[in-house]
Amino acid sequence: MNDQVLDTFDTAQLIPDFNAPQLPSERPDHATLHAAEHNTRHWTSRESGPLTPGSDAHRRETCRMFRETFNPYRPSVLEWPKLEPEALKRIVELPIWDIAVQTEGKARLRMAAYAATIDDPDMRAALALNAWEENRHKEVLSRMVQAYGIALASEPPYEFPKDAEWAYLVTGYSECVDSFFAFGLFEVAKRSGLFPPELIDTFEPVMQEECRHILLFANWVAWHRTRLSWWRRVLFELKVVRVWMFLGWERIGLARSMDAEGNEQEHDNNFTVNGAQSVSDVDLSVPDLMRLCLAENDRRFAGYDTRLLRPETMPKLVRFALRFMRKKPSTQSS
Ligand SMILES: [Fe+2]
Ligand SMILES: [Fe+2]
Repeated sequence: MNDQVLDTFDTAQLIPDFNAPQLPSERPDHATLHAAEHNTRHWTSRESGPLTPGSDAHRRETCRMFRETFNPYRPSVLEWPKLEPEALKRIVELPIWDIAVQTEGKARLRMAAYAATIDDPDMRAALALNAWEENRHKEVLSRMVQAYGIALASEPPYEFPKDAEWAYLVTGYSECVDSFFAFGLFEVAKRSGLFPPELIDTFEPVMQEECRHILLFANWVAWHRTRLSWWRRVLFELKVVRVWMFLGWERIGLARSMDAEGNEQEHDNNFTVNGAQSVSDVDLSVPDLMRLCLAENDRRFAGYDTRLLRPETMPKLVRFALRFMRKKPSTQSS
């Protein structure tokens, strides 16, 4: 595999004025990596005063945040540490690799398709870069799969969306749900000590990138809303409700998909519930896991300008649900 893989999805084909970022050809030294990590997590606008959602300043600063927090890592220079047989088995058996690869594949196309329809050059460039980063995630995953010999189902064809706005909304809100839980699970995996720290480090930029993506998405939604006429706004809000219903349906495990050979693939859409056990040998209670997801969500967003909007639905739902869950100390198994 070489770096040409990054070009198999060409964002510029859909968005002609997109300029792919330049990446360093070699693995940067420790200080440079550290600086890039810090830069991607912290950003404050130089603008003074409020950033009213929908205003030009809000749009401009949202896009600036996305551009200026870009992390220039190159998938081909990432480290894939040699794993002990047990850690290798645990990773190979995680039931997430097919859905992860296909989710990135869908996200890059849907984001690029929607970006191509945006008339504002700043927002178009930000969403195009988001699509490009999804393709880079797919590249990271394919390199990992190759490094550790993980067997994948063949990928179904990625179809160009008929309704690009619908597809982008589904992708954006899915990322808001999935990232919220992924932040918590990633921390569970990190604390468990069951995986080498180098592997955790390799995936850290991907995790933080998802945080940037949903930060961009939440601010795009607010900006987009305020630009619509009242009747388009009503249609848009109805669409958002339908998207949430669709995501609910998908996540209660009804969704199945076909691979390229037409075999039914069952994805574990409830991975969060079972996932904590897969990445840790500590028996974490559901409320404890939810509290950790909330804390990690807050931590990952903490470095960004507080005048930018955050995705709120998942933290609010989980905080609400926690009020009905009794505090129970988690028990330690082995
Ligand atoms: Fe991604
Ligand atoms: Fe993403």
